[in-house]
Amino acid sequence: MVEPALAFIGRIEVEMKIAVYPGSFDPVTNGHMDIINRSSKIFDKVIVAVVNNRSKTPLFTVEERMELLKKSVVGLPNVEIDHFEGLLVDFIRSKNAQVIVRGLRAISDFEYEFQMALMNRKLAPEIETVFMMTRHKYSYLSSSIVKEVGSLGGCIKDLVPESILPYIIKKLKKN
Ligand code: PNS
Repeated sequence: MVEPALAFIGRIEVEMKIAVYPGSFDPVTNGHMDIINRSSKIFDKVIVAVVNNRSKTPLFTVEERMELLKKSVVGLPNVEIDHFEGLLVDFIRSKNAQVIVRGLRAISDFEYEFQMALMNRKLAPEIETVFMMTRHKYSYLSSSIVKEVGSLGGCIKDLVPESILPYIIKKLKKN
């Protein structure tokens, strides 16, 4: 049994609502940032968790992806950057979190997200998945499209946080 994370408000003890926003973040885009910003206003704490998936070959290492996220969430004091390997629900339990946040862009995301949410519920019925609709202006955006456009010399300004744009361009040029 995992103990809940507690905070004191005056003399009253309240359970902190902690959400985990998991993903590949290879790299973080403005679409991800929209979900991070909005969820940070709903939950007491948001842990953005970078997956270390050994069966995938990401462009950025876990350390690089975390570094880019850390630079992007400066100014959001209740957002933490972390990473995990293995089952997401195990990570969530280890952090005393109760909620998984996922962004939804289009109908095409739905099937995969639905399957994941149901599997996570089967594994951990106490953990709830919450979906946030992306802002319309980011509905076409993904890390893959940013990498493709950037590596072919297209402009990716406005697609990723401005503070990390030079790092991403440098990495894409190197590859
Ligand atoms: O950004 P992504 O690549 O769509 O994120 C997918 C992620 C990391 C959320 C998903 O692959 C995941 O949760 N991986 C951890 C392994 C796991 O728990 N699998 C069972 C749930 S389907």
